[in-house]
Amino acid sequence: MNNNVVSTISVEPHANPVAAAERERLLQDPVFGRVFSDHMATIHYTEALGWHDARIGPRGAFQFDPATLVLHYAQEIFEGMKAYRQPDGAAALFRPGANARRFQNSATRLAMPPLPEALFLESVRELVRVDRNWIPAAEGAALYLRPFMIATEAVLGMKPSSEYTYCVIASPVGSYFKGGARAVTLWVSDQYTRAAPGGTGDAKCGGNYAASLAAQAEAIREGCDQVVFLDAVERRWVEELGGMNVFFVFEDGSLQTPPLTGTILPGITRDSIIILARDMGLTVREEPYSIDQWQADATSGRLREAFACGTAAVVTPIGTVKGRQHNFTIADGGTGALTARLKAALLDLQQGRAADPHGWLDRLV
Ligand code: PLP
Ligand code: COI
Repeated sequence: MNNNVVSTISVEPHANPVAAAERERLLQDPVFGRVFSDHMATIHYTEALGWHDARIGPRGAFQFDPATLVLHYAQEIFEGMKAYRQPDGAAALFRPGANARRFQNSATRLAMPPLPEALFLESVRELVRVDRNWIPAAEGAALYLRPFMIATEAVLGMKPSSEYTYCVIASPVGSYFKGGARAVTLWVSDQYTRAAPGGTGDAKCGGNYAASLAAQAEAIREGCDQVVFLDAVERRWVEELGGMNVFFVFEDGSLQTPPLTGTILPGITRDSIIILARDMGLTVREEPYSIDQWQADATSGRLREAFACGTAAVVTPIGTVKGRQHNFTIADGGTGALTARLKAALLDLQQGRAADPHGWLDRLV
């Protein structure tokens, strides 16, 4: 592996960007991940040169040889993060260093060269600076950033690629779920699992999401919004959703979330919620919780609220849980008071309306 960094980032502005009036129209109410900004960041890696040719340029298509490794063996990783409009008009990223470090961990797990943290940060910051007019200003809206890395060597041998392309694209987003902030219904997947011990559950690699699609399709067929996955060994412990971590709120005001044992993604929102809740004086446990206990506690009223969280989903209340052996509603099936309070605390901090005691905002100038 070659850890050389041969270039600093160059900027080539788009010769024909989206016109201002059209951009304003697109920013009104963007559907998640369908609208994209004018530019993208790219950095290339080869064993001979290390990281080189870092640039911001017009967003455009890639061209690949049909034998390109990522197309066959899915050697790919990605990140998800957001830039928020601040009250004074500036842009700010939320804990981007945490995304950079998770990207390095994902790279190591997928036998890819870890991108130096400074280069990850510079690419994301520079793209947001260049496309700052694409950050929507509405409450809860943001510019979603998708850094990713793919194996680009054209060879069919089963081996780590010797060449990679890292890229960041940007997409203005509002709410992840259609219908906005309403509580979601979950489908308990008893047939499919997401990740097993020793697998890639704690890496953010495309393969994990490909493997979750059949379960997600089943959830939709059953009239649910999302899958909740159970552990692969005992098929008993609640792990996470297809793209979100999960929290439970009990009658004594305490919170619980499944521990990071290697099979779930260490969410940055999850970590932030734990810290914000503890700042509020609440008790947060990182302990296993079984699906049967979840049903029993929802039925007895010991469980008062449950919510999912992630960069895309922010904080999303969970109303009802269904499965072949489960069917229960949490409280009145709506948004719990603590769920709403934690969501507001997180958004207030991200959108610059509240104090930032942990230095999580990375303001761009
Ligand atoms: N779990 C999975 C499987 C995810 O894809 C995500 C989203 O990135 C999360 C949890 C939440 O992580 P974060 O809060 O860092 O976005
Ligand atoms: C994110 O929240 O950033 C994710 O990557 C989750 C995905 C389901 C959109």
